[in-house]
Amino acid sequence: MSKPLPISGSESFEASDDQATDGSSLSDRARPLPRISIQAFCESSELAEAIQAASEDRRLSKAHITIQMGGGAAAIAHYQESPTPNLIILESHAPHAQLVAELEELAHSCDPGTKVVIIGKANDVVLYRDLMRRGISEYLVGPVSPFELMECLSGLYNNPESDPVGQVFAFIGAKGGVGSSTICHNVAWTLSEVLSANMVIADMDLAFGTTGLDFNQDPIQGIADALQNPDRLDEVLLDRLLTTCSKHLSIFAAPVVLDRDYEMSPEGCETVIDVVRQNVPFVAVDLPHAWAPWTKRLLLQADEIVITAMPDLANLRNAKNIVDLVKQTRKNDAAPHLVLNMANMQKRPEISPKDFEGALDLKTLAVIDFDCENFGQAANNGQMIEEFNAKAKSTQAFRDIAMALAHRKEIKTEKKSAFAPILEKLKLKR
Ligand SMILES: Nc1ncnc2c1ncn2[C@@H]1O[C@H](COP(=O)(O)OP(=O)(O)O)[C@@H](O)[C@H]1O
Ligand SMILES: [Mg+2]
Repeated sequence: MSKPLPISGSESFEASDDQATDGSSLSDRARPLPRISIQAFCESSELAEAIQAASEDRRLSKAHITIQMGGGAAAIAHYQESPTPNLIILESHAPHAQLVAELEELAHSCDPGTKVVIIGKANDVVLYRDLMRRGISEYLVGPVSPFELMECLSGLYNNPESDPVGQVFAFIGAKGGVGSSTICHNVAWTLSEVLSANMVIADMDLAFGTTGLDFNQDPIQGIADALQNPDRLDEVLLDRLLTTCSKHLSIFAAPVVLDRDYEMSPEGCETVIDVVRQNVPFVAVDLPHAWAPWTKRLLLQADEIVITAMPDLANLRNAKNIVDLVKQTRKNDAAPHLVLNMANMQKRPEISPKDFEGALDLKTLAVIDFDCENFGQAANNGQMIEEFNAKAKSTQAFRDIAMALAHRKEIKTEKKSAFAPILEKLKLKR
């Protein structure tokens, strides 16, 4: 078993605040919703459109959402005949007294478990307090964006104390052998060490995965046992199937046998990753370079995506296809991350990071040089690069990628001069 090494240097980390204006930190606040039913009764087409846009987001893909016009009156009429869903979104432009009267009427036909969110026009704290006292889950002042709506709903169903929901990072290579798994493992390990946060690496390359090798482990059980019966996977079984690599890092290892066939269904894979994310704050999904319904599903459902490419034409074309698909299907998410690996290899003609960025309309998150000495030896030893050689240049790239995925900022404390204690004393004397 490889032992965790203390991270060198005295750095601390804080939540990044420089992303407040882009989609990434906003979308980061909204977590996936469980399989709940939501019915909305709108007065304005703006709200109906915002809910429609939110309902197409991956985070709401499990929820069942219907939208009707007609506001409070339509809701009252509807629930006289039909059972109430898990959540009602009600838009009302009525004055305070009328709104309260409508809610009282609605309460007669509402199940006790149903939550109600009101979207109103008045920015009025007296109204807000009155509604909260009456058991309304949230009052939002319109117009609301799809983001605000998702954030609000996510807040209602993802209570950090009782129901932690982890973040999922998917790693995929633009071609096979470009170092996607190596980057996945090193980034996951770095993140777990630096943030002292629990992390699981799920090795989805069942036949050829290298997670066990890279962490010097040879587990008997792993992810295949979970995928065989996804609905049976719970906290207890998960604990048995994971292999501990260090204080904060465990792996969901691939069986790496060729004589067994595995059914890989998108639903099964998603269920397994969902169980992991319910139990661990960070999940790194190491996807093989293959294209199947289940790889596509895991990739598109992840909170963050890292595409690793080598600087040649085939990688550029494939990366572009992946980036285009991801951007097209995930309109409310930040763009995927691009890592150029094995760059600056001697005598090899390469496509420059700038040309990659231009073609993909994406900034590269990191460029990692070809470094067969450190990567080769670390892999042979079953160690991470930083464990093998903390001075290797790539360690900084792994930290940068880890911090970007976790939306944290690395703060380097200034190195104190060797004379600092003496200078302090002199200052005191003066
Ligand atoms: N920057 C690099 N320099 C040298 N070798 C590398 C580098 N990155 C990865 N490798 C090596 O390339 C090989 C393929 O890496 P792997 O992570 O398995 O690729 P993938 O998951 O994309 O198929 C491994 O032997 C790994 O050690
Ligand atoms: Mg791989």
